[in-house]
Amino acid sequence: MSAASPVRAAWDLSTRAFHWLLAVLVVVSFTTGKIGGPWLEWHMRSGYAILALLIFRLGWGLVGSRNVRFVEFVRGPRAVATHLREILAGRVPVTTGHNPVGGWMVVAMLALLALQAATGLFANDESSHEGPLAKMVSNAVVDRMSVIHNYNQWLVVIAASLHVVAILAYQWVLKVNLMRPMISGPRSVPMRAVILLVSSAAAVYALVVIYPGAR
Ligand code: HEM
Ligand code: HEM
Repeated sequence: MSAASPVRAAWDLSTRAFHWLLAVLVVVSFTTGKIGGPWLEWHMRSGYAILALLIFRLGWGLVGSRNVRFVEFVRGPRAVATHLREILAGRVPVTTGHNPVGGWMVVAMLALLALQAATGLFANDESSHEGPLAKMVSNAVVDRMSVIHNYNQWLVVIAASLHVVAILAYQWVLKVNLMRPMISGPRSVPMRAVILLVSSAAAVYALVVIYPGAR
């Protein structure tokens, strides 16, 4: 197989919608967080949507279409080493989903975003805004969560930037277009994806509205 024509499975519509919504919302969250003040209202709303998307992706990684399932693309160190060797030798191994290195990038990015969203729930800006669960923990915990939220924002930025650089490198250096399958592909959305998304949104609503309100 030549480097210019690796066969790649298309991403399903649910994963593509998840991806682009996530990308937009991360930019919105970062920007509104930096502006601060009244924009933190929108920052938190955007953060809740990210939280719901992450829960959705977790579920979709278990019951989604084949190439988005974690068991399919989270691979051991030997597969990662082999893939790196192939790339360094100038060959592009054919994979039908995330390659063994990209798979770990996905896990890392989802984990960093989950940490960011989770710490945000307990963070405060030391004036008028606080996460919906901040009242339920001590000030020391709120301070710690705010510090982690502040540091981890940069890890999120670094991971997202490396991610985009990697996609561009595939395009320019290896002549592989990874972007097309993340844009177009199958159009159907199975009912279990809809149920999963609604349940994820309901779980976030329960966590940030019903639970704090009931205390
Ligand atoms: C993954 C998405 C998120 C990103 C990228 C993000 C990013 C940021 C950034 C850049 C700031 C400004 C910190 C600074 O002053 O430099 C901030 C502050 C803040 N965020 Fe988030 N955040 C996210 C999710 C959330 C969530 C889900 C909540 C909770 C509802 C939240 C609550 C807060 C609060 C209360 C602050 C003010 C605390 C402070 O300024 O230290 N964030 N966030
Ligand atoms: C803040 C911005 C972004 C975040 C947080 C993000 C996050 C992610 C995540 C989590 C995945 C894994 C998809 C999955 O299996 O669920 C992914 C894949 C992908 N992203 Fe992004 N992304 C961002 C921006 C972008 C941009 C700007 C582009 C286009 C240049 C892009 C192109 C892609 C492509 C092509 C894939 C599939 C990679 C592959 O084929 O292995 N992403 N991204």
